[in-house]
Amino acid sequence: MRQGRKIVPLNLSNDLVGHPTFTFSLSNEAQVFVSEILDDTFSLRLSIDLGPDGSHIASLHGPPDLVELFASLKLQVRCEIVADGYNVLTQDAIDAFVVSPESKAKLLEALDLREGDKVLDLMSGNGAVSQLLLEYADEKAMEIALSLCDTHYSQLKRIDPNVRERVVDVTVGDARALPYERESFDTVVLKMGLHEVPQLDQPLVMREVFRVLRKGGRFIIWQLLPASGVMQDVFTDIVRKSSMLARCESQAFNRYFPRQDQLAWLFKGAGFNECEEIFRAEFAYSTQARLSAELGGDSSKLEILNRFARDRAPQEVRDSMFWRDTGEDISLKVPACIYRTYKPS
Ligand SMILES: C[S@@+](CC[C@H](N)C(=O)[O-])C[C@H]1O[C@@H](n2cnc3c(N)ncnc32)[C@H](O)[C@@H]1O
Repeated sequence: MRQGRKIVPLNLSNDLVGHPTFTFSLSNEAQVFVSEILDDTFSLRLSIDLGPDGSHIASLHGPPDLVELFASLKLQVRCEIVADGYNVLTQDAIDAFVVSPESKAKLLEALDLREGDKVLDLMSGNGAVSQLLLEYADEKAMEIALSLCDTHYSQLKRIDPNVRERVVDVTVGDARALPYERESFDTVVLKMGLHEVPQLDQPLVMREVFRVLRKGGRFIIWQLLPASGVMQDVFTDIVRKSSMLARCESQAFNRYFPRQDQLAWLFKGAGFNECEEIFRAEFAYSTQARLSAELGGDSSKLEILNRFARDRAPQEVRDSMFWRDTGEDISLKVPACIYRTYKPS
């Protein structure tokens, strides 16, 4: 059932935070979706009132028999409200993921850009990948048509104006339901993004990339890929704990770092050709680096994170993660890989 669901964006007003009462309405697309289910047109509104004591009352405004109607259709209506998380991230947090010149060169090699290519920078964040591609295109005196898509407006706001003015579009969109026509792109690049959606949703991202790529189009993915199940669990839990301490709620709830074998299945399941590994390096994670990046310089939070990490990581997995504990900092390494695959011609 989860695979069959449709993801529809909601219109959320920008000034929700700090307001005791707010209302959000369904986007036009969501209205269309609901009216298609019900074979009728009407307006639907879900409001949540937050009282000063933190209590809340949610109400659904629509036809009076809506709830019975949903029940008769055996529809389950579920609404999860989580804080964005990206809106509280500082520039430090974004810069903390340092990318080596070698890995940038490998990304460009994997992309193998050609004159006139239509490229989607998916989960683009602040557009760091697009910036690299534009610099490369300038060097080669080549024109490319770039689109940037990310679900968090707070991230897109950080895009350098020089990048913004040179691209075809900057779109707020969910990777699980991309707002582009089928076969719109020659290449899709997805750097450090797949793990941002829950495990059960990762096939949806793959399917959407497959849909928007032209036949023979390239898909390049750059992803942290824990080498074993234990490493995956330990790393995910430490990153999640850090996100919770930083109040980056959506990251804490959603993130799932797939292993290499899982990624291969995801490519296969969506219909892509065999993938090739273009690059492999070790990504160095450090709890102390999160102090200014995520934890607002609060050393008591760093202590909590370090204690959690020590409790969470069994001795037998520490060697394979290059675990180092200096007392104030815990560092470990996780493989970071660039893979390329193609949509069959
Ligand atoms: C770690 S950042 C990577 C940004 C950029 N690709 C880079 O490497 O610099 C992950 C990005 O994924 C975006 N994101 C998270 N969930 C998403 C979704 N469901 N659809 C589209 N973008 C999403 C976040 O807003 C964030 O900008």
